[in-house]
Amino acid sequence: MTQKRILSGMQPTNNLHLGNYLGALKNWVDLQDEGAECLYCVVDLHAITQPYDADKLAQSTREIAAAYIAGGIDPEKSVIFAQSSVPAHSQLMWLLATMTQIGKLNRMTQFKDKAGKNSEKAGLGLYAYPVLMAADILTYNATHVPVGDDQKQHLELARDIASTFNHRYGKEHFVQPEPFIIGEATRVMSLKDGTAKMSKSAPSDLSRINLTDDADTIAKKIRKAKTDPDPLPEKIEGLSSRPEADNLVTIYAALSGKAKADVLKEFAGKQFSEFKPALVDVAVAHLEPITNRMSELLAHPEEIDKILTKGGEKANAIAQPILDKTIDIMGFWK
Ligand code: TYM
Repeated sequence: MTQKRILSGMQPTNNLHLGNYLGALKNWVDLQDEGAECLYCVVDLHAITQPYDADKLAQSTREIAAAYIAGGIDPEKSVIFAQSSVPAHSQLMWLLATMTQIGKLNRMTQFKDKAGKNSEKAGLGLYAYPVLMAADILTYNATHVPVGDDQKQHLELARDIASTFNHRYGKEHFVQPEPFIIGEATRVMSLKDGTAKMSKSAPSDLSRINLTDDADTIAKKIRKAKTDPDPLPEKIEGLSSRPEADNLVTIYAALSGKAKADVLKEFAGKQFSEFKPALVDVAVAHLEPITNRMSELLAHPEEIDKILTKGGEKANAIAQPILDKTIDIMGFWK
């Protein structure tokens, strides 16, 4: 196997929340610190697949880049860039679209969730979203893609498209990207309903902790988080039919860098009235420095722009030759 090349991205839609942080960003930082070659993009082309405000898109892109840096991504070590600044993503997407079966796109649960009941009116971009995601990954021949659990199906499709290409053209051109769904919190759930994913689009802001929330807001949201009347169990199996309790223990474990089993050893038999304040302490201690750093960074948008420009150049230098080779293999005139 060639050296690890990591690629991942987040959409510049609303604020990042604890799910984005624990399911993805925190792992991105660990991979960077292990010395892997890392490319982290802000997927602005994905963000326009649903209604959005054109006046705010550029600023949202800067905000996500600031969150990456505040969360620990070092622009000297990792490439941070905007997806739209590398034309290879959209160009490769078209080429890959010609070898993506509609039947496979029809099975994508995220499309069904996002399109809702009115799927006839959903845009082609929302439907083709996973093909663009495959292009994001394949145009760098990324070997590993660290994401939360909800992106698993999209990654399977990207692997599938890579092998279809290689088979059709009889060349081992694209690398099969491996999903990296790691850590204790691959699926952080809503604070209001332990059976629903924590998401940027849920109507109640109390359902999620945003990376921009201050200490008081974090404390209020955890205090109001849904729980059940029982004390915490001794063993992980004791959480199996208690989604809200499971979620809060998972969040505690991920934020404190402990295993869930160890958290339960510490809190077995304790009530939520005791556990929640401990969770507030861990959450605030971990998130407050990130929030503060993010505001400092956003006070100097020109610095973020410089990082994104430089990142775009570096990303282009990797992506373009892979796109050129793809075009060659496909037999185009040039
Ligand atoms: P997005 O912007 O919805 O989410 C960004 C990352 O956060 C993870 N995530 C979660 N993890 C745990 N619990 C949650 N509740 C939770 N909510 C979100 C997501 O799994 C993701 O890793 N399609 C992608 C963006 C994308 C991409 C790519 C990712 C576009 N191209 C190429 C990797 C490689 C998305 O919409 O993520």
